[in-house]
Amino acid sequence: MKNKFYITTPIYYPNDKLHIGHSYTTVAADTIARNKKQRGYDVFFLTGLDEHGQKIERTAKKVGMEPKKYLDNIHEWIIDLWGLMDIKYDKFIRTTDDYHVKAVQDIFKTLYDKGEIYKSVYKGLYCTSCETFYTDRQVEDNKCPDCGKEIEIIEENAYFFRLSKYQDRLMKHIEENPGFILPVSRKNEMVNNFLKPGLEDLCVSRTTFSWGVPVEFDKGHVVYVWIDALSNYITALGYTSGDDKLFQKYWPADLHLMAKEIVRFHSIIWPAILMALGLPLPQTVFGHGWIVFDGKKMGKSTGNVVDPKILTARYGVDAIRYFLMREIVFGQDGNFSNEALIQRINSDLANDLGNLLSRAVGMVEKYFGGELPESNVELPLENEIKNYCLNTVLKVEACFDKYELNDGIGEIWSLVRRMNKFTDEMSPWVLVKDESKKAELAKTLYILAESLRVISVLISSFMPNTPKEVQKQLNITDENILTWESIKQFGLLGKKVSITKGGVIFPRLDLKKEIDELVLLNAETQKNTMAKKTAKFSLPEISIEEFAKIEIKTGEIIACEKIEGSDKLLKSQVKIGEEVKQIVSGIAKHYQPEGLIGTKVAVVTNLKPVKLRGVLSEGMVLAASNDKGELKLVTVDMDSGAVIK
Ligand code: MSP
Repeated sequence: MKNKFYITTPIYYPNDKLHIGHSYTTVAADTIARNKKQRGYDVFFLTGLDEHGQKIERTAKKVGMEPKKYLDNIHEWIIDLWGLMDIKYDKFIRTTDDYHVKAVQDIFKTLYDKGEIYKSVYKGLYCTSCETFYTDRQVEDNKCPDCGKEIEIIEENAYFFRLSKYQDRLMKHIEENPGFILPVSRKNEMVNNFLKPGLEDLCVSRTTFSWGVPVEFDKGHVVYVWIDALSNYITALGYTSGDDKLFQKYWPADLHLMAKEIVRFHSIIWPAILMALGLPLPQTVFGHGWIVFDGKKMGKSTGNVVDPKILTARYGVDAIRYFLMREIVFGQDGNFSNEALIQRINSDLANDLGNLLSRAVGMVEKYFGGELPESNVELPLENEIKNYCLNTVLKVEACFDKYELNDGIGEIWSLVRRMNKFTDEMSPWVLVKDESKKAELAKTLYILAESLRVISVLISSFMPNTPKEVQKQLNITDENILTWESIKQFGLLGKKVSITKGGVIFPRLDLKKEIDELVLLNAETQKNTMAKKTAKFSLPEISIEEFAKIEIKTGEIIACEKIEGSDKLLKSQVKIGEEVKQIVSGIAKHYQPEGLIGTKVAVVTNLKPVKLRGVLSEGMVLAASNDKGELKLVTVDMDSGAVIK
């Protein structure tokens, strides 16, 4: 067994369902954890939920539930999500877990006893939404610099952590350990924007709400949510619990992974707390970029969330994991688009990898009846291919060690493409015509099969299921030739390969059709929030001014037809006063087009036009639907063109 490797994701706020942005961090962490495990490291992978704070208290109240009950529902949804995405964590922590609460209280008390925390008066600028205090310098126009919401001014008795005291030690540590904050751009940001201007002591308790870890020795105060949350990385290992075997074994963390907006908490506040506790610092804090959608950070407040459950159900978890790890340069922001997803599936998975497997297996079946005979002939390209495979393994290892995940997967795909090129270069379909080339033909197919063994092991931390299918079709059952070390040798596949032809691993998708479906599915997700599912009340309140922005009018359906190739969509011409709008609706399962003519409906008329299945839709016909899947159009007994308000 090699060294230990302790890796963490942030613990997420269960404010609502998680979206593909959260899945990005977790998939990346899982991929790294799996690769380290494959390479013999003793890995511990931690994830979890950050369940305290005013934001959660308010959300639960809004939906009419006790915080714990509300959290339990979301927790269940998230555990299910990680199951679907094949996330193999070693521990899932909830900050409401008793052992964590107790340990946070111990940590707070220890810091207080050591004089690292002191009591004073706090007056400052606070964003409830981000649960973060800001300095005057950071706040413009009374708006939170992170989320843009109103900032509140708060004055109260509070405890402070002596963060300023650690300024020089932190600076020294960061300068002396170039791998401490990665990528380098984030290190520069921390040094220039936070350390150089000077650190102030940090307010670490609150009295304005109660949903938090109580300060044991001063009732009425709860521990600042970030101190509570950051401590999870050690409390999960049993720190202060009396059974700290895991802590002794795994701390310090080798990698705290997160997106860039919380690097400050992890690379300044957290290390200072650890210094104050006399504990060693994590090896690396890595801040990757944001997944953006149409240029905006994905998030509930921006209303552009993409539901990972929908995507995995439709395309399979491997395709989604592949896309996330391949498409976005690890460390930089990257755009999520449905089009890019479908194109990657078609070009990289169906064309490159899918073809390589189906060609190799198909030819073994067609030319040799499924049993490849032994061949000892040496092909001119053989050495080059062997070296290509070996070099790819070494390059992928190096990429993993530098956390350059998209480069790692890129190296694997260069090999996949090299092997497709090798197939064309050898042209087995020509060799088969010449009886004297039988040995060359067999060797060509052997090399293809062997490269697929190597590829299947290389991809397995990114895509946990596809390798099993590849190995099944190649009849590889010997676990010894599926280890990471084994792929540093070429030629371990038994000389006589027999195959079991299987299905297509990644079917090609119809780009246009998929994009239309995804637009519809995504619209459903936006409406169907967790709050709506579990609560008496559904969406957050809006003002009358916000409501007034929606224009709803009566309309009469004057023509209606099915959209070719879709079993869900109908295209209607709807007369609204003098105007006729074309509207596409997902109601084909509930209504026959002919039966709708003459129906007077309620239409949202100022929606931005979109194309569904390539057909322009200039509004939305309102309908009521329930949990049983029933749907009825909202009909209005009034001439078309009247305003509904
Ligand atoms: N609860 C805190 C973290 C405490 S850790 C001690 C928190 N939670 S969060 O739910 O807001 O999740 C933040 C993390 O989710 C980000 O740091 C990032 O890892 C991930 N992401 C959320 N949205 C994301 C994108 N749009 N893109 C990439 N990652 C995203 O902050």
